[in-house]
Amino acid sequence: MPNRGKKQLKKKKAPGESVKILISGPRIQKRIQALAKQVRRDFPDEPLHLVSVLKGGVFFLTDLARSISGEVSFDFIAVSSYGQDTHSSGQVRLTRDLDSSIEGKTVIVVEDILDTGMTLQYLLKLFQQRKPKHLRVAVLLDKPDRRVAPVRADYVGFSIPNEFVVGYGLDYSERYRNLPYVGVLSLDSKLAKKAAEK
Ligand code: IMP
Ligand code: MG
Repeated sequence: MPNRGKKQLKKKKAPGESVKILISGPRIQKRIQALAKQVRRDFPDEPLHLVSVLKGGVFFLTDLARSISGEVSFDFIAVSSYGQDTHSSGQVRLTRDLDSSIEGKTVIVVEDILDTGMTLQYLLKLFQQRKPKHLRVAVLLDKPDRRVAPVRADYVGFSIPNEFVVGYGLDYSERYRNLPYVGVLSLDSKLAKKAAEK
């Protein structure tokens, strides 16, 4: 057994950054159970094909997939829409396509967060062309105040205010994805200014 002292368990944050818990791990898990039941109720007899967006949607996908009864398969796609900071570039680019065809399948797009909606708009257009039997969207978090593109999710875990959040798959410069909860990230004003200038 490795020696897991207190020091090793403590999650390190970069200087000038702090994270305040917004949605606890147990609350996330409970909500995902309910969403899984809802999805299965809507499609009682269908094999479901979950398509997650790397990397942020991975934690949500694995927990959701394990909670849905019956036949479930999954695949991954990757797009880039955000740079290294907390500001969207508004540009969406496909960086990794799906492994298999979605034609004739009941597809649920599984996303970590619906923010401006640019990513989802891009994905829905792409997937619709591939003729799935059904195309639905599940997001863990929804920031309705930030919406730019006219898209909506069929299954929403939590609606949250317009704050930059991290944890449970969501990152800030690739960090904090491994937090078991969702928290609001605060940046020291000097560092925040520096990030905004990038
Ligand atoms: P959208 O295209 O603006 O809807 O943004 C979707 C993507 O932006 C998400 O999949 C996240 O990767 C990222 N994103 C949006 N809001 C946040 C946030 O508050 N924290 C971390 N990533 C975010
Ligand atoms: Mg991201």
